Amino acid sequence: MRDVPRRPATVAYDRVAAVYDWYTTPMETLGGRQARRRLFARARGRVLELGVGTGLNLSAYPPAVAVTGVDISAG
Ligand SMILES: C[S@@+](CC[C@H](N)C(=O)[O-])C[C@H]1O[C@@H](n2cnc3c(N)ncnc32)[C@H](O)[C@@H]1O
Repeated sequence: MRDVPRRPATVAYDRVAAVYDWYTTPMETLGGRQARRRLFARARGRVLELGVGTGLNLSAYPPAVAVTGVDISAG
């Protein structure tokens, strides 16, 4: 298979991936986590999450929801 050049967004998110959860902690603490729970509580059935990142949304889905996450960044 041919190597595909990485896009700028891929390069940027690959770089921050290791510290992304730490970096977003203040926003999560100041309401982000609560907002995710409120929003994703309404999800039903099967969900395709584009740009799933490190998976911060995953614990906010109801247990019966089947989530598939994809991301341009492997990190
Ligand atoms: C701001 S982060 C959000 C991550 C996660 N959804 C969250 O709420 O924490 C945006 C994510 O979208 C991904 N992304 C950007 N462009 C994309 C594309 N064209 N296809 C798939 N993922 C992409 C990035 O790699 C990054 O993980």
